[in-house]
Amino acid sequence: MQHRWNRKKTQFPLVVVVLLVFMVSSILYNESNIRLIHEGPDHRPRREATRFTYVRPNLPARTARAPVLDRFSKCNSTREYSGKSIWWGNGARETDAAKRSRVDLEEKCDVFSGKWAFDNTSYPLYEESSCPYMSDQLACHKHGRPDLNYQYWRWQPHGCNLKRWSATEMWEKLRNKRLMFIGDSLNRGQWISMVCLLQSVLSKDQRSMSPNAHLTIFRSEEYNATVEFLWAPLLVDSNSDDPVNHRLDERIIHPDSVLKHAAKWKHADILIFNTYLWWRQGPVKLLWTADENSDCEELDGLGAMELAMQSWAEWVSSKVDPLKKKVFFVTMSPTHLWSREWKPNSEGNCYSEKLPIDQEGYWGSGSDLPTMRMVDNILGQLGPKVYVLNITQLSEYRQDGHPSIYRKFWEKLSPAQLSNPSSYSDCIHWCLPGVPDVWNQLLFHFL
Ligand SMILES: *[C@@H]1O[C@H](CO)[C@@H](O)[C@H](O)[C@H]1NC(C)=O
Ligand SMILES: *[C@@H]1O[C@H](CO)[C@@H](O)[C@H](O)[C@H]1NC(C)=O
Ligand SMILES: *[C@@H]1O[C@H](CO)[C@@H](O)[C@H](O)[C@H]1NC(C)=O
Ligand SMILES: *[C@@H]1O[C@H](CO)[C@@H](O)[C@H](O)[C@H]1NC(C)=O
Repeated sequence: MQHRWNRKKTQFPLVVVVLLVFMVSSILYNESNIRLIHEGPDHRPRREATRFTYVRPNLPARTARAPVLDRFSKCNSTREYSGKSIWWGNGARETDAAKRSRVDLEEKCDVFSGKWAFDNTSYPLYEESSCPYMSDQLACHKHGRPDLNYQYWRWQPHGCNLKRWSATEMWEKLRNKRLMFIGDSLNRGQWISMVCLLQSVLSKDQRSMSPNAHLTIFRSEEYNATVEFLWAPLLVDSNSDDPVNHRLDERIIHPDSVLKHAAKWKHADILIFNTYLWWRQGPVKLLWTADENSDCEELDGLGAMELAMQSWAEWVSSKVDPLKKKVFFVTMSPTHLWSREWKPNSEGNCYSEKLPIDQEGYWGSGSDLPTMRMVDNILGQLGPKVYVLNITQLSEYRQDGHPSIYRKFWEKLSPAQLSNPSSYSDCIHWCLPGVPDVWNQLLFHFL
């Protein structure tokens, strides 16, 4: 099946995937996906490989013989995963002292553990219609969402308060600096939220936005600062790195290189990374950069994500001086595709949900535990070089915060589609103003 997404407008491919999953669920949602989701922590096939070859990641171009990947790339052949691993982190292992200071930091107050409190006096932090950079995919009110309750929730950590949001204070922190978000469409949503949170205090002639591209830049003249978004849904170099025309049918990555994207992100002072959902769509093809014949290997999404995270971690551990750069990693953004998970015996999705889930510790099937353990392990080894924005649990409670049918996708949804929310809801991304504003408030808290 040759299938290419070639549309002019910016798009959110995950929604496409979910639409497909819904439309032909029994066909697409095949056994390997199901196995991936229910996989236990010990079922890691690649660990059984007897040969352990380590590859040094992020080597300069002259030693890389594989072609640069773009959306037209193809594998010459595909075989099973050879068991090659990424060598990283010599010296990056967390020292006991670093581990202790990290624990101290966390023990003061875990701001990621708490509950949502209705607060229509302080929230929303900005108006949807007053942000000129709002995305049509996230502007739920504009696209007909009748209830606005999703805008009025404050995150209340147990035992302490989040720092109050202040756009001018944030700009002061960003003065003469570059803040860059790097990742997929969820991260782009957080970037748009940040731009909307920040833009209101600037006058029109003091701000500018570059056209949508691999790297998109919002700039304040007054503060000589930028807030940027770099499209890199898999973090490593891949054939899905065009921000507009993505390929979904055959994802090919260079598991051992982040260099294409790092060439752009290395100049930023504050880096916010995410990656997750693009690894959840079945197996991934690996093209090691030393392979000049484009002979690929195939690996399940979790295994491929682990290799990618290790290559990314190697870059962080060898290139980041924590006194000069701050690196954040945003954990899995939960999806709410099946309402039976929080409302037993119901058959819908996130559509028409109006109130957050109030069951403490609620965890749905969209947040994969084996992925979380793998990410925990790698971030743990990076120690003080990375801050974790652990947004998974707090966002799990917010099944009411997704756009569902209230958004513009390439075209407006047709009346027939609107009357069929079970098939056309986006329960992956988040309405703005909404949940990602709180992720940014957490970022502000740690800056
Ligand atoms: C806030 O919510 C309360 C309770 O729903 C309502 O009575 C009040 O009018 C609302 N205030 C504002 C400013 O919207
Ligand atoms: C503006 O910020 C850049 C870094 O982003 C810095 O190199 C430059 O010196 C700054 N310019 C002024 C006038 O401070
Ligand atoms: C595919 O492999 C063959 C031999 O194995 C090689 O001659 C050819 O150049 C390869 N094609 C590409 C596009 O790398
Ligand atoms: C994030 O929080 C969850 C609990 O909600 C925890 O199990 C997990 O280990 C945390 N991950 C990281 C990387 O801190």
